[in-house]
Amino acid sequence: NWNMDDFIEFSINAIRNQIGKGKAICALSGGVDSSVAAVLVHKAIGDNLTCVFVDHGLLRKDEAKQVITVFKEKFHMNLIAVDAKERFLEKLKGITEPEKKRKIIGEEFIRVFEKEQKKLSGIEYLVQGTIYPDVIESGTGRAATIKSHHNVGGLPKDVNFQLVEPLRQLFKDEVRKVGKNLELPEEIVQRQPFPGPGLAIRVLGEVTEEKLKIVRESDFIFRDEIKKANLEKEIWQYFALLPGVRSVGVMGDERTYSYTVALRAVTSTDGMTADFAKIPLDILEKISNRIVNNVENVNRVVYDITSKPPSTIEWE
Ligand code: XMP
Repeated sequence: NWNMDDFIEFSINAIRNQIGKGKAICALSGGVDSSVAAVLVHKAIGDNLTCVFVDHGLLRKDEAKQVITVFKEKFHMNLIAVDAKERFLEKLKGITEPEKKRKIIGEEFIRVFEKEQKKLSGIEYLVQGTIYPDVIESGTGRAATIKSHHNVGGLPKDVNFQLVEPLRQLFKDEVRKVGKNLELPEEIVQRQPFPGPGLAIRVLGEVTEEKLKIVRESDFIFRDEIKKANLEKEIWQYFALLPGVRSVGVMGDERTYSYTVALRAVTSTDGMTADFAKIPLDILEKISNRIVNNVENVNRVVYDITSKPPSTIEWE
């Protein structure tokens, strides 16, 4: 059990000892683990660390902008932001199968990252935000069996790289404490879990720009209302998704035939099992009204009331 100030000091020294005057690269996703690892390593070796942020166009509203602002402007880190939106959309065209979508995104991510890495020279170290539960989980192989998890930190173990994994001994709550001490913003430190394949697995079936936009806007409203209702801390994960069904509705005197948005919110301690969150009905009502009134092409909102198991948290 670490005192976090001690941990930071110890860790910075250890990183300096490991890397020396060498150069390191990391993949930043905006998630807690990769962010904290990157800031720690930056504290230790400064500009000898280059971070690559691949914007696959599957992030939530304003997330890409935020990553760039925080790491470039606040921490003055060496950050390469790659706009790969079109590339990912193109690859996902016509693909409907969840596992296939996950695979394509994982592979494409590695390709884009490698392309950037090859432009740089003399890099020997790869920084990863591996935390203690990841170490245990990969030992049992448990997570991979149901869905092929793609984690932005999970790059191929290139033989040319030596791994730098400063968070290997920490649990998630400790990582958050370290992040807070390092003055990472609250939105990153307290960020809810978000899958590597991002919104692509929250648009069921084929991913299109139009559908991504619906999910992104609905999700933003959902999160905003949860924040206003002060429920953030009680709910493990809450998000909107697009099942892809359309149904008949009425607006004014007009018949509509538009999309249904589903809301998913769960309580959990580790994501392995989960209960659907008992969000008060008046809050759900507010969210539903705001979504149908503001998000184009949506005329119905449903709330997922299943637990895990038998459901999973994500729908794909
Ligand atoms: P499921 O849907 O299997 O999700 O109940 C359990 C937890 O894992 C997250 N998740 C992922 N995280 N890469 C990740 O880093 C992934 O590919 C991925 N798929 C699901 C999910 O959001 C939930 O927290």
